[in-house]
Amino acid sequence: MTSTRFPGRQTVDFLSDLPAGFRWGAATAAYQIEGAATEDGRAPSIWDTFSHTPGKVAAGDTGDVACDHYHRWPEDLALMGRLGLDSYRFSIAWPRVVPQADGRVNPAGLDFYDRLVDGLLAAGITPFPTLYHWDLPQAQQDRGGWPERSTAERFGEYAAVVGERLGDRVTHWATLNEPLCSAWIGHLDGAMAPGLTDLTAAVRASCHLHLAHGLAVQALRATVPGAQLGIVNNLSTIEPAGDSEADLAAARRADGHVNRWWLDPVLGRGYPADMVELYGVEIPLKDADLATIAAPLDWLGLNYYFRQIVTDDPTGPAPYARQVTGPGPEFTAMPWEVHAPGLEQLLLRLTHEYGARRIYVTENGSAYEDTPAADGSVQDPERTAYLELHLAACARAVAQGAPLAGYFAWSLLDNFEWAYGYAKRFGLVHVDYPTQRRTVKASGHRYAELIRAHRSGRSA
Ligand code: FCB
Repeated sequence: MTSTRFPGRQTVDFLSDLPAGFRWGAATAAYQIEGAATEDGRAPSIWDTFSHTPGKVAAGDTGDVACDHYHRWPEDLALMGRLGLDSYRFSIAWPRVVPQADGRVNPAGLDFYDRLVDGLLAAGITPFPTLYHWDLPQAQQDRGGWPERSTAERFGEYAAVVGERLGDRVTHWATLNEPLCSAWIGHLDGAMAPGLTDLTAAVRASCHLHLAHGLAVQALRATVPGAQLGIVNNLSTIEPAGDSEADLAAARRADGHVNRWWLDPVLGRGYPADMVELYGVEIPLKDADLATIAAPLDWLGLNYYFRQIVTDDPTGPAPYARQVTGPGPEFTAMPWEVHAPGLEQLLLRLTHEYGARRIYVTENGSAYEDTPAADGSVQDPERTAYLELHLAACARAVAQGAPLAGYFAWSLLDNFEWAYGYAKRFGLVHVDYPTQRRTVKASGHRYAELIRAHRSGRSA
């Protein structure tokens, strides 16, 4: 269905603002695509436990099979080639590599990523692995999980193992994906694994996730020659719902909760004092830990999906700011508001307020219904429009000085969308789950066209 704001195919005029050498990629995550949940020594993660707990995931879906990428990766690699990607962001499953609490390395788990990396390099695609995309080994959870310091220490050891094995071929690494979701959604809202609703646990988890990041940076610097290291945060622009003092203060708190808490410590500013006071939870770190967390990075990853419009909510959970529905008129199937200017604003904020020297948009994308047509094609003009609106926002930010070096569409494939299960489709490539048949959607073809045009200096 084509809507008024999404008129369908038009020539775009922003490609020439994106720098030469701009990386064109797509992103995925291990638990969302791999399947093979019990193969080759993989042990359960907190997401296996969560998805197998009745009532936690829509329709009782699990990642047991997902896109069966563990077996079908050569086909998926060929799809990346068809799209013309030069970079691929994926995550490495900690529960494949160090499945149990005893620290024993599972060589078969590492072998999988070894094959994938070799395949990518042979196809001329730069691997961008993320070490942690939410799949904590259940064995670590059983020892207390992220609220415990030992989990961060075990993560540093796991990072060293992976760096030693792949660091001769992989240069670009992200430590964590969206630690906000692990801490706040996993331990405070309870909507993601491990499903807790405990502010103290959530704040402690956030600090140990940061420490884990810092320890992984140390491990990768020691094991990967010429490492290019970053962290991936999901940030939102925050707007007050009204102009009352109460709403303005709520917006400031929400900004602390969603943005500053995640950027400030990593960029050497420590934890924001207003939020430390608001949470009222002792920070379980020492000064030396804060220095570890703030070790210099080569790039910042930005995942952008929506802005947040908030109103004061004194009786709600921290940060006492409730999200109200944006004015629209366009929403994705999540339903998340489509608001591309937020991406431009965040890129400029990272540039000017945080002094970022290199940024990648490590995720951006949209879910729509995507029913295949009678001829088998998948026509998704809304996703194409979403892609173009957000790439245009990237180009505007670049024109204003943002050091943006690449864009990774979320996602290469339709996949297991966490608590939403398989009902929400974000892929540039459609997956028919019963047959595992892949079909490049119209938006995927358009993405390929934009990539080709940018590389050859043409418009598209
Ligand atoms: C992000 C996650 C990613 C996917 C998208 C839609 O928060 O990093 O795994 O679920 O949202």
